Amino acid sequence: MDLFSHAEFDGHEEVHFLHHRESGLRAIVALHDTTLGPAIGGCRMWPYASDAEALADVLRLSRGMTYKTAMAGLAFGGGKSVVIGDPRRDKSPALLRAFGRAVESLAGRYYTGEDVGTAPADMDIAGGVTRYVLGRSEGGSGDPSPMTARGVLLGIRVAVRHRLGRDRLQGITVAVQGLGHVGMSLAGLLAEEGARLVVADLDPARSEEAARRFGARVVDGTEILSVPCEVLAPCALGGVIDDHSLPRLRCAVIAGAANNQLAAPRHGDGLHERRILYAPDYVINAGGVINIAEELHPEGYRRERALDRLGVIGERLAEVFTRAARRDEPTHRVADAMAREILAAARRARAA
Ligand code: NAI
Repeated sequence: MDLFSHAEFDGHEEVHFLHHRESGLRAIVALHDTTLGPAIGGCRMWPYASDAEALADVLRLSRGMTYKTAMAGLAFGGGKSVVIGDPRRDKSPALLRAFGRAVESLAGRYYTGEDVGTAPADMDIAGGVTRYVLGRSEGGSGDPSPMTARGVLLGIRVAVRHRLGRDRLQGITVAVQGLGHVGMSLAGLLAEEGARLVVADLDPARSEEAARRFGARVVDGTEILSVPCEVLAPCALGGVIDDHSLPRLRCAVIAGAANNQLAAPRHGDGLHERRILYAPDYVINAGGVINIAEELHPEGYRRERALDRLGVIGERLAEVFTRAARRDEPTHRVADAMAREILAAARRARAA
């Protein structure tokens, strides 16, 4: 398995392969770029089909965190860890402690937290052996999802203003795919602003809840991507914008929380050709990491301060949209270029 010539390798600073015989821990920690500060990024536990799949995931996710923190104006770099295994079967206190000891051995170059397959209670256990854990159940910043949803709402407002020239979401139709932690919270915020909701979730109980609480119209999972609407908000899986969905889209804006919404960069080019305004995922969904990073504030975590900081999401998106319009370029490419500029400027400042 190649590392330095791997397709997802992007000059990552450190990649650590962890194995702990007694607990069965098999994990990879990747620190992509620490120019702006220590790497930050959650710990994902997933039954990867192969080590190669886990490596590709951690390389890609840690790079995404570098871009996300740079665009969010945080003094953190990008990192991520993946634990290979089924969280329902293979997770144990011993495994979490072994993982925590490995994080501690990185001496503050990497801060971890919960992600898919891990929870705040797991961070409590890992946090028993390392200082470098955020998002504990006690004394932490709590569930990041409501903050992520608020950030997405700000992003939707900016996108609607830019693409449709409308200042309010009253009467705007938003199709929300996925009503989990973020999607349900977002649906509630949109309903408060008078948006019309169309929703889909694999779990019918969630769709029914949105219909009952917010008067949402329910469609099935295959239909949601082709519903006529002003805004499509993907809040479920990654890779939703692909060769199959692209020609069927009937929205003016795509702005949602899901990570890695574009199956490949060329699908972002396809959105641009169709005049669909895409809010780059790592810019609009940064509310969670903005929130958790506040835990390291010298005065301790304060929700009001985190809420204030969310404003950067709207500002950055407005900048991305304006630049993209001026140059007639796809927004995902403009956002990547902006993130790289931020990093290059920080490197120059450090070298001076
Ligand atoms: P979640 O697991 O709580 O919710 C996902 C929901 O999507 C579930 O209700 C699931 O049934 C539904 N779903 C899955 N596949 C679907 C499909 N094909 N069609 C319709 N519904 C489907 O996840 P959460 O925390 O709400 O996150 C949503 C997305 O946002 C994920 O991609 C996550 O990586 C991303 N994200 C979440 C953040 C957070 O603060 N929770 C922060 C940044 C990104």
